[in-house]
Amino acid sequence: MAHQQFSSQSAIVGGEEHDREAIDELIASLPQRKGVVRPFQSLYQNFWCPTYVLPNVIAFQRHFQAKHEDIVLASQPKSGTTWLKALVFSIVNRSRFGISNTPLLTSNPHVLVPSFEFRVYGSNPRPNLDSLVEPRLFQTHIPYPSLPECIKQSDCRIIYICRNPLDAVVSSWHFNLEIAQSNDQLKWSLEEHFEIYCQGKMSFGPFWDQIMGYSKESLERPHKVLFLKYEDLKEDIVGQLKKVAEFVGLPFTEEEEEGGMIEEITKMCSLKTLKDLEVNKSGKLPAKHMKLENRNFFRKGEVGDWVKHLTPSMVDRLNSIMQEKMSPFGLEFKTS
Ligand code: A3P
Repeated sequence: MAHQQFSSQSAIVGGEEHDREAIDELIASLPQRKGVVRPFQSLYQNFWCPTYVLPNVIAFQRHFQAKHEDIVLASQPKSGTTWLKALVFSIVNRSRFGISNTPLLTSNPHVLVPSFEFRVYGSNPRPNLDSLVEPRLFQTHIPYPSLPECIKQSDCRIIYICRNPLDAVVSSWHFNLEIAQSNDQLKWSLEEHFEIYCQGKMSFGPFWDQIMGYSKESLERPHKVLFLKYEDLKEDIVGQLKKVAEFVGLPFTEEEEEGGMIEEITKMCSLKTLKDLEVNKSGKLPAKHMKLENRNFFRKGEVGDWVKHLTPSMVDRLNSIMQEKMSPFGLEFKTS
């Protein structure tokens, strides 16, 4: 295949049995909680991680070797990760693929830009990533402090997307509920979900620590971390795409801009286009521990959908968390 694909073959073997035992011991020593959203979560390096994903996280931390050209997308779940993947894939590969033959027509963005913790290290602690086309594109929900040192020290770029937590919590409730339904699990209320979110116990949370970690790094090293907001993409997608293209060292040329390249990418990656593709209507994502369908990643894509779901007291509570944890550092969100 011409686009991103990694091999599940081990590059190095040996010592893995021993590694596995040590990792199991480490995991057993961590605080664990049983949640309604995911069966078990462990508190690892100050973030809550689905326990079954932890061995993958640790393998990623220990074995990943960054290349200077790599591009890593990062986010809190339900913040526009799928959209960002489609957009960055299109920007980076625009000289290889046009709109008529883009792999996005036949592959879900999560396949084209694999997640370190769910996919790349999902079945093999030492996958062979050397044959991937450069620049290699990856994605993660892991907080900045827990990224491997090689990512922090190399010249590779990180693009972070965040979203107003009021919308993110509603989106995450819908997503998890759909997954629970397809996996014959019990339903739970928005109130229960909201409580866990506000306690910071949702996967890869507390959400405020994760968002502020990337925000801080983007302020200190703007050439290293580009910090985007879902709401800004909705408001000015052309301006934001130019920013992304420049950040990854592939600015749009005058001819490309005049020829409507940015608008073409925008249209191809719009919620409507992606949602209506057969692959995203009926395809499934390879997931070891649950049924995950491509359609689960596309819902309404609106700014301000929270108004229809959250009570005034929920809004007050979340707003005061944001006020306390984010506003002092200058981070505010548009609400509609
Ligand atoms: P809603 O549930 O509010 O509709 P993630 O990709 O991080 O899982 O985030 C999912 C959210 O992004 C969902 O929000 C989904 O509908 C929205 N989304 C997915 N693809 C999108 C696109 N191409 N444009 C805008 N929003 C998109």
